[in-house]
Amino acid sequence: MAQTTFSEADLMADRDYAREHVVATHRLHGGFDETGRYIPPRSRFRPQAIEAWTESLRARGGDLLAADASLLAGQRYPTVAQSKLLLLHGLGQSFWNSLTITGKIEARGRVLAEMPFPDLQDLAVEDVSEMAIGHLNGGLLKAHGFDEGGEPARGIGGHDVMWFAARDLAFGAGAYPDVDPPERIGRAGAPREVPEIPENFEGMLRFLMNLLLIEFRAELGFASSEQLLRDVDLFQDRRAAADEAADVIDRIRRDEEIHVTSLRLCLGELRHLDLRTLDGGQKPGAEVIDPMWDRLVQWATVEQPKLQAEEQRKVYRDRILGHEDGERILAEFEALAGS
Ligand SMILES: [Fe+2]
Ligand SMILES: [Fe+2]
Repeated sequence: MAQTTFSEADLMADRDYAREHVVATHRLHGGFDETGRYIPPRSRFRPQAIEAWTESLRARGGDLLAADASLLAGQRYPTVAQSKLLLLHGLGQSFWNSLTITGKIEARGRVLAEMPFPDLQDLAVEDVSEMAIGHLNGGLLKAHGFDEGGEPARGIGGHDVMWFAARDLAFGAGAYPDVDPPERIGRAGAPREVPEIPENFEGMLRFLMNLLLIEFRAELGFASSEQLLRDVDLFQDRRAAADEAADVIDRIRRDEEIHVTSLRLCLGELRHLDLRTLDGGQKPGAEVIDPMWDRLVQWATVEQPKLQAEEQRKVYRDRILGHEDGERILAEFEALAGS
């Protein structure tokens, strides 16, 4: 039987690299093998651990939490064609801002490595020591947090620095003023949804689900950013650097696959367990997870994109009208909506 318990050192261990990952003087996590293929950080044992836990969950009749492309649905604002139009007219600030904000949101992910989380063994009836959820506080969340926010003390950048490096490759450093992301990007603390279980565990489940949704929907940003950076009509005075920026984003995308799979796995394990209720009873995990997840997906794919588009519309309008040819560009921009 495959190994199903791993130490923190195992889950944090890097593979051996033939070449370190350095981009424009930034030392970054991960590295390359002898053929030049990118290897994600902390992937000496983590992928095989996730694989082994997945296999054993399936052997017990469970599976990863279902999460498919329908999670990417919802209104997109701006579209890739609209962003391209702005870049063609020298209105690069919006794209610049989106790269900066994404990097800063990634940096917040370091909290996963720093914050103590409740031990899900106290929630689960069954023994979880040989499951992914039994390893969350034993290296799994720490590895995840380091992937997002890097190891500043060792001078190694994670996803935060990778987004900033990509931005500076494409635009040149300091091309536009710095900008900060909104306070919160997950769904705000709803009233108690599952009052039968302790509040701290409901909070933790909500946290893991929000994280999965953000990780999964990050794909939208990867795809549109890469498409813009590789567009030969754009960044014409910095083509090679813009292509390298797209390569960096593709490496972040590779790293995130591990996050999406491990979160789907943790939630899949929880669905398949019995959870302790406050009255001393128990409740099937699926009855706790599924309704919470459905509500969150509805918010993230329908309600939130609509609100966000409404909020952004005015910002874009003002920015475009600041251009000397603003009226004409705005008409073209609006005509491209939904493209
Ligand atoms: Fe990330
Ligand atoms: Fe991530």
